[in-house]
Amino acid sequence: MKPQTCRQFTLAARPTGKVKESDLAFREVEIPEPADGEILVHNEYFSLDPSMKGHMEDRSDYRAPLQIGEVMAGRSVGTVVKSRHSEINEGDQVFGFLGWSDYTVTNGKSIPVHVYHEKVNPEAALGVMGGTGMTAFFGLTRIGEPQSGDVLVVSGAAGATGNVAGQIGRILGCHVIGIAGSDDKCRMLGDELGFHATINYKTEDVGEALDKLCPNGIDIYFDNVGGDILNECLARLALHARIVLCGGISHYNLEQKPPGPDNYFNLVFRRAKMHGFLLSDFSESFDEAREQLRSWYEQGELIQKSTVIDGFTCLPQALVKLFDGYNLGKMMVRND
Ligand SMILES: NC(=O)c1ccc[n+]([C@@H]2O[C@H](COP(=O)([O-])OP(=O)(O)OC[C@H]3O[C@@H](n4cnc5c(N)ncnc54)[C@H](OP(=O)(O)O)[C@@H]3O)[C@@H](O)[C@H]2O)c1
Repeated sequence: MKPQTCRQFTLAARPTGKVKESDLAFREVEIPEPADGEILVHNEYFSLDPSMKGHMEDRSDYRAPLQIGEVMAGRSVGTVVKSRHSEINEGDQVFGFLGWSDYTVTNGKSIPVHVYHEKVNPEAALGVMGGTGMTAFFGLTRIGEPQSGDVLVVSGAAGATGNVAGQIGRILGCHVIGIAGSDDKCRMLGDELGFHATINYKTEDVGEALDKLCPNGIDIYFDNVGGDILNECLARLALHARIVLCGGISHYNLEQKPPGPDNYFNLVFRRAKMHGFLLSDFSESFDEAREQLRSWYEQGELIQKSTVIDGFTCLPQALVKLFDGYNLGKMMVRND
């Protein structure tokens, strides 16, 4: 049942070290009314992303920081419940940065939305076809430039972006090795998503495992974590290897920046490249990516994995859990 008021979470404090539930404040406001040219969206599934922490901090290297008291930013998928817009209709499914609010008003440009005129599974709309899937798609295909037979290593492999990057690599003919933080995650990667081999970085020596699993070196390393795992991969690059620098979650909660990877000079000997990117760099090609991802998803080649927590008020707790490695696949909260 849709709520009679509009529940929201706002930024209460900038996180220092780990994100805490108390960094967010709950409030209830009246449900907003759309003006001419606007839509009112009821948000149904909320995406939890590590980058949210950067958005809560007072940093300007990524996107404009949230201000204290502002509605927490985040992607969601929902349904248009009122429309005064000429092209977006009541009942349309929309996806965008609609924030941690039961309801959001936009004209479709103030907060850009992607409209699914034909509804898709909301978990897939946030996951394999959403920002997550597109990040994996562009990072791997445009920067990793995979060739059939390449050895692809993915860290954060059981997470949202990592599992899709590995699956796309498998579809494109790579030999895919996933690094993740539990035996259950490793089992899921092998048994359900078709990864060829896995490493549990919490119980295994990552360097030794990589030596065994890729004796001829790594052609592509899709890096979600940085830190020691990046350093071990740098030491084992094949000639002309590509490192796709997607994220560095191992240091997001540290108050001091960690030292740089001391194996970086192997990039020279292996004539390799290490290339960072942001999803927004590819905004002109979003439609093309969505179409490809949707086609792989509908053909059953790309599987949507999600961890869904129920209840709007669980949003802060879900964000904390994301950094504790709670999720298999895409972490999301389903509205009640
Ligand atoms: N460049 C871009 O445009 C872009 C876009 C989206 C995401 N990203 C980045 O991509 C990375 C993955 O994001 P996501 O949304 O897919 O999140 P995610 O992987 O679904 O969730 C985070 C996962 O990171 C792992 N983790 C946590 N602490 C870790 C540590 N100290 N060392 C290694 N792994 C750790 C946990 O899994 P384990 O149990 O395996 O530890 C956790 O489940 C993040 O770094 C994010 O910032 C970049």
